[in-house]
Amino acid sequence: MISKQMEKALNEQVNAELFSAYLYLSMESYFKSLNLNGFANWMMVQTQEEVSHAMKIYEFINERGGRIILKAIDGPDTEWASPLAVFNAVYEHEQKVTGLINDIVNLAIEEKDHATNTFLQWLVNEQVEEESSADNIVQQLKMMEKAPGGMFMLDRELGQRVFTPPAAEGA
Ligand code: FEO
Repeated sequence: MISKQMEKALNEQVNAELFSAYLYLSMESYFKSLNLNGFANWMMVQTQEEVSHAMKIYEFINERGGRIILKAIDGPDTEWASPLAVFNAVYEHEQKVTGLINDIVNLAIEEKDHATNTFLQWLVNEQVEEESSADNIVQQLKMMEKAPGGMFMLDRELGQRVFTPPAAEGA
């Protein structure tokens, strides 16, 4: 059984993950409008990842005897100045999400809720990957400011990304 405070915090995280999915779907449609279909593919996979994060937390709340209360999802931004501006926003957003998750881990430690703490470690590790892959693309886009031809190569590379459901990763 989780505490009421933990139930609330996890519910808020479900909402934050669904907002992330919404944000990346909005970015997907921005890239589609620029005919950067590889970038769009990367964003679609990222959207699926965020939905899977939300669902994993959703299932955990249920499993621990909590109650899911779904709230409205905020509207995401719809326009960006450039692909670099998009990925700067992704990197910034993921750092914010890491902060939210760390706050819930701190609460789990405070409450001596070992089950939730253990569960959240998967998300802590996931955030390391999420921040690193966003930062990596930011750095590549910065290098391309002087060599715009690279953009099409990166678009092709990002077009290769496929969604792997968490269960298949053994998570
Ligand atoms: Fe679900 Fe991008 O963190």
